[in-house]
Amino acid sequence: EASKEIILLGHKYPTDEWTNVTPRVISKLGRNLHILLYHPLSLIRQRIVNYFYLQFHNRIGNPIFSVYDNLSPIVTVEQNFDSLLVPKNHPSRNKTDCYYINRDTLLRAHMTAHQTELISMGLNNFLVVGDVYRRDEIDSTHYPAFHQVDAVRLCTKDEVFENVKNTDELKLFEHRGVESNEKQGCHTLESVKVMEHELKNTLTGLAQTLFGSEVQYRWVEQYFPFTHPSWELEVYYKGQWLEILGCGIIRQEILQRTGTAERIGWAFGLGLERLAMCLYDIPDIRLFWSKDTAFSDQFKTEDPNAIIKYKPISIYPPCKSDISFWLPEDKHYSSNDFYDLVREVGGDRIQQVVLKDEFIHPTTKRLSHCYRITYRHMERTLSKLEVNNIHKQIKQQVSEKLHVKVR
Ligand code: PHE
Repeated sequence: EASKEIILLGHKYPTDEWTNVTPRVISKLGRNLHILLYHPLSLIRQRIVNYFYLQFHNRIGNPIFSVYDNLSPIVTVEQNFDSLLVPKNHPSRNKTDCYYINRDTLLRAHMTAHQTELISMGLNNFLVVGDVYRRDEIDSTHYPAFHQVDAVRLCTKDEVFENVKNTDELKLFEHRGVESNEKQGCHTLESVKVMEHELKNTLTGLAQTLFGSEVQYRWVEQYFPFTHPSWELEVYYKGQWLEILGCGIIRQEILQRTGTAERIGWAFGLGLERLAMCLYDIPDIRLFWSKDTAFSDQFKTEDPNAIIKYKPISIYPPCKSDISFWLPEDKHYSSNDFYDLVREVGGDRIQQVVLKDEFIHPTTKRLSHCYRITYRHMERTLSKLEVNNIHKQIKQQVSEKLHVKVR
């Protein structure tokens, strides 16, 4: 038992009581949709990279940002959390939220996992693109594997104040400063404000490049353990505010630990699926993983800036079925365990799972959950028989594996 191993991307890993990667999630490793020719996620990646090449170049016109889009998604807990100052008890570390290979190793939950190693290598301006993995609910915009672009820019004092004539009185750092909403203790207000300005300009410029120059946007204050201050950028699209990225001024402690203490930096991370769904009218996140040419053919363009609106091949009917059960009294239960189980059994035939009802039995005090499962394939009609079969298997497995009592 204790010596069990799994092989992922050609490497062997020991498993332990933390292991919770599922075969279905493992099957996504190596698909690399973000660099697949003509794939919509790849088109958006190209647009973002081109924007950075255009915006940031040296005196002779060469781009200063380097791009890493081929780093292994298997990272250590140290890379994904510790190196980024994520507290030991932070909920994002939970087994219920991440796919662990074992207690020390997981599928990266964000591209920020590579930040410190790339900074340690001496890089000052870089983009990192790749697949990330998170346990989450099931609906048209959530999938356990998705893609992110992260960026880091580190500046010396001369770079920060390059447009100022006499910089003698200006400093990046101050001693005995106090942390406020506006800045970290060690930074001067003037250095942070210049960096914040460049960061926000860069990102609103990116939003305008992607969504058009008239796009409405707003900044929302946010918290990340690895940046301060931190913000989210939201854009108004088709009647609602969409959060498209998180960003902020890098915690100086991170730069100190990686031997870059003389620079100040900003960073951001954005999700590609959300952007692609808006820009191409893609209605369901599962479509990105489709191998059907009826999907991929619609994005065959040499011009990543081409305006493409996805036309659904045809609409297949959904089929809904409920499942109710009593939660175990003596064991831990998380909805994410149920969602993973449903995905393992139903695969891409599952469109959505919602927790419809939650109630406590008046006398026994037992907790009951009722979920509505919507069955619908993107590429074909499901038969009643097929749906009933999956539903039955889910009922069976949920009692065996999650120790619940189906009602
Ligand atoms: N890693 C963060 C996320 O996944 C985004 C982020 C990156 C925020 C870099 C700030 C700086 O939500």
